[in-house]
Amino acid sequence: MAYGLLKGKRGVISGALNEQSIAWKVAALAHAEGASIVLTNAPVAMRMGEIDKLSASTGAAVIPADATKDEDLENLFTGALEKLGGPVDFVLHSIGMSPNVRKGRAYTDLNYEWYKQTLDISAMSFHRMIQAGVKTNALADGGSIVALTYIAAQRVFSGYGDMADAKALLESIARSWGYHLGKKNGIRVNTVSQSPSKTTAGSGIKGFTGLFDFAEAMSPLGNAPTGDCANYVISLFSDLTRYVTMQNLYHDGGFSSTGATQGIVDLLEKEGD
Ligand SMILES: NC(=O)c1ccc[n+]([C@@H]2O[C@H](COP(=O)([O-])OP(=O)(O)OC[C@H]3O[C@@H](n4cnc5c(N)ncnc54)[C@H](O)[C@@H]3O)[C@@H](O)[C@H]2O)c1
Repeated sequence: MAYGLLKGKRGVISGALNEQSIAWKVAALAHAEGASIVLTNAPVAMRMGEIDKLSASTGAAVIPADATKDEDLENLFTGALEKLGGPVDFVLHSIGMSPNVRKGRAYTDLNYEWYKQTLDISAMSFHRMIQAGVKTNALADGGSIVALTYIAAQRVFSGYGDMADAKALLESIARSWGYHLGKKNGIRVNTVSQSPSKTTAGSGIKGFTGLFDFAEAMSPLGNAPTGDCANYVISLFSDLTRYVTMQNLYHDGGFSSTGATQGIVDLLEKEGD
């Protein structure tokens, strides 16, 4: 059911690769809630993905941008201003990639060139994106910016490798920009920390199926589905959350506050028998 929560708002949504992508669900819902949007992704992902399908169903223009390139990002916001006919009320950063994780390099044996790429693609890109929006005067006063993150920023998850460091940096960038943009423009900046989700990026994590099942068993509500993550992100883009900023917000079925569930205890007791 649509509530018209984003009626008349304009947004930029990154990271929709295919129907499983969290950004895909956010884009579809933003459109259903009345927003006009521009979609963006890395030029290489455009060729692999199915973004044209999403563009057709949402009426969104697509502007390719490599999130590690300032020029691409400035072009993205200049183009968005033009396509949307005014400044952008909301921005979604839904980008993550680690060459070390993808190529199976352990955290104890990182390739540092790849480590730099992990941080650049998955975290610095958030700073760059916001800076490009500011430099091009594309961000509307009172707007909302959200990036997606994972609890490995706070606690160790064995297979998450250098992405944990990238997420810690990403969350810090959200706080810092949240301060500066809040003071100057009334713009809020938050991160949403999502449950493990079966997407292209998620499935690239070592031992993902085990991690997914573990989180499911450790969350009183179960793992949060990506469609519900989109609901939460839309609420953060809406005027219902105008005083929420500089927060890392868990959307994880209660995982982050749970020490042990009976299900996990029973499982380990059985194994110990
Ligand atoms: N899937 C999970 O388990 C999970 C859990 C918590 C948080 N997240 C986060 O959610 C976000 C979205 O991931 P997803 O799970 O929807 O997977 P996804 O693979 O669908 O999305 C990742 C996106 O990043 C884009 N990307 C990679 N390099 C880029 C670059 N240089 N420039 C621009 N875009 C680039 C990809 O093209 C892709 O669209 C990521 O930040 C991810 O870390 C995912």
